Amino acid sequence: MKTAIIEGDGIGKEVIPEAVTILDYFNETYDWGIEKIYVDVGLGKWERTGAAITDEDIALLKSCDSILFGAITTVNDPSYKSVLLRIRKELDLYANVRPILPISGIYKLLNIRDQKEADVNMIIVRENTEGLYSGIEEIGDEKSTTTRVITQKASARIASFACGLAFGRKNSLTVVHKSNVLKSDKLFLDTCRQTAESKGVAVSDKLADIFAYDLIMAPQKYDVVVTTNLFGDILSDLGAVLLGSIGLAPSANIGDKQAFFEPVHGSAPDIAGQGVANPIAAILSLKMMFDWMGKKREACLVSRAVAAAVHDEVVTPDLGGKYSTKEVGNFILSKVRQLDAASFCLEDPEDLPV
Ligand code: NAI
Ligand code: MG
Repeated sequence: MKTAIIEGDGIGKEVIPEAVTILDYFNETYDWGIEKIYVDVGLGKWERTGAAITDEDIALLKSCDSILFGAITTVNDPSYKSVLLRIRKELDLYANVRPILPISGIYKLLNIRDQKEADVNMIIVRENTEGLYSGIEEIGDEKSTTTRVITQKASARIASFACGLAFGRKNSLTVVHKSNVLKSDKLFLDTCRQTAESKGVAVSDKLADIFAYDLIMAPQKYDVVVTTNLFGDILSDLGAVLLGSIGLAPSANIGDKQAFFEPVHGSAPDIAGQGVANPIAAILSLKMMFDWMGKKREACLVSRAVAAAVHDEVVTPDLGGKYSTKEVGNFILSKVRQLDAASFCLEDPEDLPV
């Protein structure tokens, strides 16, 4: 089994090593035989070589089973094409999965009183290959257009994936769209509906704008949500508000053969190099990788260790703490070791079936 490690730029270089030490611990302790392959892409590479990612990098990534990714800084150059979009497209990682599940104890730590953790437990599934991120654009001085592509095939595929998650949960799916204005979304909505009905999953739908309101005001209404590319991008970042910090939000990009795991946040140039970035989003992205690999016990141990850091207030400044990235990472690793040594694994029914 091969896992590519892409630290990327800025805080990607600080948070990914904290996740990798946990991967190393399990890999060595249980002889998993995971071969780590470091791949360099992003702004740093662009500055050194003129290319943020090469065809060879893509070929190397295609040869790996999974990818753990930090963040990259977007290059401000008209000739620059998004590295992430290229990876997602070329590897056909069609399902972007973003769990909105607060860490146990986080609302107490942050003194959030008007929201209950028990009310927030949803997964936003975003179609990752088309929509407004089709890459089909005509850019002019007076008029620029971007083509929004919705196909029945991709809509059925993402709906089917979302239904797979719904089966392990409440067997209900909400389709988020804007078909009242965007006629292309009628095809998305109809296809998702038909797919869910054919699989016996209860299906409802919501316009994207009112869903944004509900997401914050009434998150308890939702369980598994499926939506198109741009809406999913924005709404899942908004959903991260419910987690308490963007530094706590993990995500996965899943294809039929491979999967790519990354924190939702970017390279955070404003705090990069200071050693204060929250490593938990990266560590929970590794947890999602363990789930995807079928290593449910280890995934559970990681969640427990993260919750222990929150409980003991061993957290970075974004959560009001005084600890560094390394100190939080070391604490979580020590808890993982401790729980593992005690053969501890509570089956957490709230845990994610990703
Ligand atoms: P950002 O997510 O990097 O930062 C937004 C704010 O959240 C900043 O104030 C930052 O300090 C804070 N923050 C982010 N992650 C944190 C963490 N782990 N711990 C503590 N605080 C954290 O988004 P921004 O500033 O819009 O983008 C910066 C660069 O990152 C841009 O070049 C952008 O294109 C890129 N980016 C890359 C992404 C990726 O590689 N997946 C995703 C989003 C942005
Ligand atoms: Mg985003």
